[in-house]
Amino acid sequence: AVAPDLAGRHVVISAGGTREPLDPVRYLGNRSSGKQGYALARTAVARGARVTLVEANTGLPDPAGADVLHAGTALQLREAVLKAAADADVVVMAAAVADFRPAAYASGKIKKKDGQEPAPVALVRNPDILAEVAGERARPGQIVVGFAAETDDVLANGREKLRRKGCDLLVVNEVGERKTFGSEENEAVVLAADGAETAVPYGPKEALADTVWDLVAARFGQIA
Ligand code: C5P
Repeated sequence: AVAPDLAGRHVVISAGGTREPLDPVRYLGNRSSGKQGYALARTAVARGARVTLVEANTGLPDPAGADVLHAGTALQLREAVLKAAADADVVVMAAAVADFRPAAYASGKIKKKDGQEPAPVALVRNPDILAEVAGERARPGQIVVGFAAETDDVLANGREKLRRKGCDLLVVNEVGERKTFGSEENEAVVLAADGAETAVPYGPKEALADTVWDLVAARFGQIA
């Protein structure tokens, strides 16, 4: 049995990847499977938390014991996360949120026309949900956790991102061949705002999830 060290805590987790529609049949998307977010949800339930999982386009079955909300786009995910965060003790942004969305949505399918070059797709910025949640802190002592997939200068970029977003913990993944996207395994370093670094060796996504909860529970211990 697992120690119920998250009992009485409400944790909000986002998982999956947003899809930003161009027209009724097309979207800009990403390769996030949602598996890391679901592992976070399952392990949080096991440790006694009340879990709200905000899922985007994962197609995964709802984890037992969690309240699951569904979002398609970044704007929908933002709305669901901000609402749930209002009474959350912890918010973990594991979802891959599109940084940009098409500036315009065509209500009919965009058609190719003979002899014409395709029109360029104009993009606009999506709001940064993690930075918003971390900046507002709906509750005193609320713990905010982000994820970052980096291809180079992983730790330096991670440190800079942690500071810029204002979160307490940032899980930094090096994106590579068999790692992270769609895989059952992950390898990461968890950076903390106080400077601590916790390396998590290549292994099941549950192991990384449990390390995140260990670090969160330790922070509750300091506050309480
Ligand atoms: O800036 P970058 O996309 O690398 O940051 C990744 C982290 O920020 C993830 O935790 C992701 O969920 C979050 N994010 C967000 N809103 C965005 C973009 C990213 O909350 N628009």
